[in-house]
Amino acid sequence: MRLDRFLSNLPRFSRKQVRLALLAGRVIVDGQTIKDPLHEVRDFSQVLLDDEMLQGGKPARYFMLHKPPGCVSATLDPQHPTVLDLIHEPDKHDLHIAGRLDFNTSGLMLITNDGQWSRRLTQPTTKLAKVYYVETEQPVGEHYLEKFAEGFYFAFEDLTTLPAQLTILGSHRARLSIVEGRYHQVKRMFGFFDNKVLRLHRESMGPLALDPALEPGQYRALRRDEIELI
Ligand code: URA
Repeated sequence: MRLDRFLSNLPRFSRKQVRLALLAGRVIVDGQTIKDPLHEVRDFSQVLLDDEMLQGGKPARYFMLHKPPGCVSATLDPQHPTVLDLIHEPDKHDLHIAGRLDFNTSGLMLITNDGQWSRRLTQPTTKLAKVYYVETEQPVGEHYLEKFAEGFYFAFEDLTTLPAQLTILGSHRARLSIVEGRYHQVKRMFGFFDNKVLRLHRESMGPLALDPALEPGQYRALRRDEIELI
């Protein structure tokens, strides 16, 4: 949220008082005096006015999980196990998923409390490739390649998918790279050819690949150099 909005949400401040407090250099965000009203305040930023703590600040946290099939990409679900049930960390309900996967899809899932970081990873404008390994019921034909590159019209959203790169690995196996994350996108793309996806596994998101040391259901914290890649 913008710093001026964050401050004017506090009942004691008018917009004018917010502007004056900023100009006077009374506001400190994450240890730095900030005068720019457009400065982004993150959920885990520490915000001080004079010496008063307005928001305590929490450390940013980033995890990579090997999602197994059979769990829901949600933080709460009344019926099924969720990916958050696999995470054993304090305050885990502050965390969110950067790019959901379907119930039976496996593979790389990134989990964080940093909304800006996860937006950079998932919004189509940043064009970060998400790479999936796919197994299908019917053979994958050479004629698929052109259609994936050209895009599929999705009537519900009234859009055409951005060019995707399909590599055929075998008669019923392919690797697909897409830059969006539309609802059931991969299954709908293969559905165009009446070809059911039987297995779907996300191998990477942008420069971050699933750590082969992680068994399904296991996770680890991202390293600083990995976080900075996004
Ligand atoms: N596309 C799908 O259809 N399902 C997923 O889980 C991810 C991408």
